[in-house]
Amino acid sequence: MPHRSTRRLFLNQAVLSAGAAIAAPALIGHAAFAASRWASDPFRLGVAAGAPTPDGFVLWTRLAPVPLSTDLQAPGGLSGPSIPEIAADEAMRHVVRRGTATADAAYAYSVHEEVRGLSPGRSYWYRFMAGDASSPMGRAITAPAPGASVDHLSFAFFSCSHYEHGYFSGYRHAAEETPDFAVFLGDYIYEYVEQKRPVVRHHSDGVECITLGQYRNRYAQYHTDPDLQRLHATTPSLVTWDDHEVQNDYADRWSQTFDDPAVFLARRAAAYQAFYEHMPVRPVFSKPHGAAMRLYDRYDFGDLLRINLIDGRQYRSREACYRQPKMGGHVETATSCPELLDPSRSMIGMEQEAWLFDGLARSPSRWNVIANDVMMARLKQRTPSGEMGSWTDDWNGYPASRARVLQHIADSKPANPVVITGDIHSFWANDLKADFDNPASPTLATELVGTSVSSPGPDYETFKTYLPDNPHIKFFESRKRGYVGVDLKPGLLTARYRALSDVTDPNATVETLAAFAIVDGNAGAVPA
Ligand SMILES: [Fe+2]
Repeated sequence: MPHRSTRRLFLNQAVLSAGAAIAAPALIGHAAFAASRWASDPFRLGVAAGAPTPDGFVLWTRLAPVPLSTDLQAPGGLSGPSIPEIAADEAMRHVVRRGTATADAAYAYSVHEEVRGLSPGRSYWYRFMAGDASSPMGRAITAPAPGASVDHLSFAFFSCSHYEHGYFSGYRHAAEETPDFAVFLGDYIYEYVEQKRPVVRHHSDGVECITLGQYRNRYAQYHTDPDLQRLHATTPSLVTWDDHEVQNDYADRWSQTFDDPAVFLARRAAAYQAFYEHMPVRPVFSKPHGAAMRLYDRYDFGDLLRINLIDGRQYRSREACYRQPKMGGHVETATSCPELLDPSRSMIGMEQEAWLFDGLARSPSRWNVIANDVMMARLKQRTPSGEMGSWTDDWNGYPASRARVLQHIADSKPANPVVITGDIHSFWANDLKADFDNPASPTLATELVGTSVSSPGPDYETFKTYLPDNPHIKFFESRKRGYVGVDLKPGLLTARYRALSDVTDPNATVETLAAFAIVDGNAGAVPA
């Protein structure tokens, strides 16, 4: 956990001694590697940790001495092992594990080292070595033991970091708050190049990503950002994706540009592979197979928190009334598009729905988070003719799927269900109602929506006009960029909506725009 909770929960010499007693495996090939000299630093993309379990985590880096080169055979002898060194202390004096991880040539010399056999519920520090190069140091955590009593956790969640539209000051400020972990809810990169609006910096190649090399370079450019590197080095991550990791508003094999599904799946395969190559995700579990990649997963933190990290893109039904000339998400009504209400349609696919329902029904945790890409709360949008419309790209486009999720929550009664959400480039606090048409109906769960790290928000005045038709929405603000910081205790969740002073200023400051609390046993956010 972060420095403070490590002290509170885990600072005891027995843990350190037990850790130090773990035998260090032989450094196979280490001598030979020590002789390998790099012409330039191979760790220019930084390091990251993720996927914490009670006995380990995944460590990530990618050997990229020429980060934006499409020539992966860059000089320096890239193939072969990179050696992660894991320590029980920040000064890295108590090394508990040395390994030999493979920088996989087929995956852009990325390293995904799945570490096991560590002590639960504490921080570790790590670095990689390859030849004469040593990476920056990073911090990882193991999750608390199953069922362990946990009195406090903190995390921050992020979405929508468009490199061209601003600096990643939100990442820097969140890192300074030393949360236990970070949750990335999607649009970690943007595949397109801004053509219409002014930008503060440029995607280096100036093209929309289609090929594996293009997606790779896009991720590599993002990973050269110092604020992003700092967050990853200090804060372990849980990651899911949204659309821009592939293409705006895609759904499974259906692109917003009406491509042949087979052609689009080839693009999706390239995009998923590049995502895998640049994220601290589990190597066996998440390694892509063609256009398929398992990302949705569950993370438990003792008796306090279960996070169901879901995949809202890969398995979703085609967007309702998918037809030219409309591209991607658009507003439809029940009369213009009866397909919208088709109960066979799903946002996350029936298999993932069943997986989610099982994870909620069997949860041992006091708090149950669904970490999700797009907004779940109903948002009625009045059309020019006065009809009530629904946006087809978020859960409003999949109302039967949303109703099944909420009905399952009503039936199985998981403790304190909270949905955390990105995508919409604005802050919201929403009551998820048993019946959105009846404000007096029970609030079953709470949705906290974080604004974008840098992507431009939707028009504030337009969206304000929707609020009277949506009384379950307790807060809306689209004019700020930032992130959400969450503090979690058994009896109380507190969410701070952190807003940057100016996303075009690399030295932007941050302040809390609003704070909300959810009290144990009482769904619905209240001002804190
Ligand atoms: Fe976005």
